[in-house]
Amino acid sequence: MDHRCKLLHLFLYFLLSASFFMHTHSSEDYNRQPPRPLILTWHHGTDSDPQQVHISMVGKDHMKISWVTSHEHVKSMVEYGKRSGKYEASATGEHTSYQYFLYRSGKIHHVTIGPLDAKTTYYYRCGGSGQEFKLRTPPSTFPIEFAIAGDLGQTEWTASTLAHIGSKDYDVLLLPGDLSYADTQQPLWDSFGRLVEPYASQRPWMVTQGNHEVESFPVIFPHGFKAYNSRWQMPYQQSGSKSNLYYSFDVAGAHIIMLGSYTDFDASSDQYTWLKADLEKVDKSRTPWTIVLIHAPWYNSNSAHKGEGESMRLSMEEMLYNAGVDIVYAGHVHAYERFTRVYDNKADQCGPVHVTIGDGGNREGLAMMFEKPSPRISVYREPSFGHGRLKIFNETHAHWSWQRNNDSNSFAADEVWLSSLSYSSACCKNSSFKCTPLTTQKDEL
Ligand SMILES: *[C@@H]1O[C@H](CO)[C@@H](O)[C@H](O)[C@H]1NC(C)=O
Ligand SMILES: *[C@@H]1O[C@H](CO)[C@@H](O)[C@H](O)[C@H]1NC(C)=O
Ligand SMILES: *[C@@H]1O[C@H](CO)[C@@H](O)[C@H](O)[C@H]1NC(C)=O
Ligand SMILES: [Fe+2]
Repeated sequence: MDHRCKLLHLFLYFLLSASFFMHTHSSEDYNRQPPRPLILTWHHGTDSDPQQVHISMVGKDHMKISWVTSHEHVKSMVEYGKRSGKYEASATGEHTSYQYFLYRSGKIHHVTIGPLDAKTTYYYRCGGSGQEFKLRTPPSTFPIEFAIAGDLGQTEWTASTLAHIGSKDYDVLLLPGDLSYADTQQPLWDSFGRLVEPYASQRPWMVTQGNHEVESFPVIFPHGFKAYNSRWQMPYQQSGSKSNLYYSFDVAGAHIIMLGSYTDFDASSDQYTWLKADLEKVDKSRTPWTIVLIHAPWYNSNSAHKGEGESMRLSMEEMLYNAGVDIVYAGHVHAYERFTRVYDNKADQCGPVHVTIGDGGNREGLAMMFEKPSPRISVYREPSFGHGRLKIFNETHAHWSWQRNNDSNSFAADEVWLSSLSYSSACCKNSSFKCTPLTTQKDEL
């Protein structure tokens, strides 16, 4: 299809689908800074060429390559190697596609490659045609650096966030939900895939779902997550999870748990049972850092989405506390906020630090209204677009920083050193997880 034909197609699709759906996000009762315009990203190759390429970690030394082609006949096959143009290995995988009302997706390929060496650059080609891509595997030991951004969308602010992320090296991107903001308009999932490809094809993007991924519809799509589960397949089987909506993985010395805020989490749910078993398996001597991602924050002093994470907090907070979770990242609220270590609404030096990082740049704009006065457990809060960086130096020390999009790359608006709970002299006295008190260490946050 040529460009004008695609535009017409997209326009017709919007027109037709708009009448089917009620948009729940238009009537928010708080002020927002004006959002910037949507960016639509097109495919410039042939119908057999790969588009929307993104990668995700599978187990300790494999990588899943995911991409879309318009043509059905393209094989789900990836050739790869350590030198450009010299592919000494190849792997075949699976493909899927889905139908959503009038929309039919392209062929969505998922191919797992490996075993791969740690912290090594590999060159790869998808489906035997089109351009060569390049990825770098994460390190197997500390140090490791994560880039973290939530509620991305696909606006000019998103492009600004991505440019900031891409201009400084990192190993893995973590996304606490709300990816494309397609909101049932399926071609926007494709456009989002193309916008993030330059970043997501180079470093693993490990994501969990937000409310904008649900896209359920009574009777026809009662369970939702049609596009999300087809396009963004995460390695849930490897952690014993039965659902793409929650999973965990280890990287370097960190155990990362991706929870689902929009699937059941009460004590009788599969997610709860899985989380309990997953936390019991954590070996702090191997992975001293435990990090959790959710979408709706459990701690939030913004008037936007106030209380939406409360039932999940009541269900799961004690489990995380007893397991010595170091940090909980959330999205959903379009602003940045960092809390001190907390448990059960009180400052607690053995609880996790909670951070809301829902300021990736989507079309809904910023959540401007914070409660006054600021609660004492809230350390820093600001409605500006940006992203975060977690650099874990070793088993005891990590550095967290938040970077605004309107500032230069050398500047962090908020930053703090964190000490892992598994070496905290104060928390080890009474911990239910494996703990090695360091008598010489002054406990930082
Ligand atoms: C861990 O890293 C921090 C920050 O670089 C450093 O001060 C500390 O000495 C390191 N600890 C060990 C055990 O290497
Ligand atoms: C970015 O925004 C912050 C907060 O509004 C402001 O203090 C700062 O001066 C801005 N920086 C630039 C470079 O515009
Ligand atoms: C130590 O842990 C036990 C069991 O979890 C708890 O009942 C007790 O209150 C804790 N003590 C302190 C000082 O935190
Ligand atoms: Fe959200």
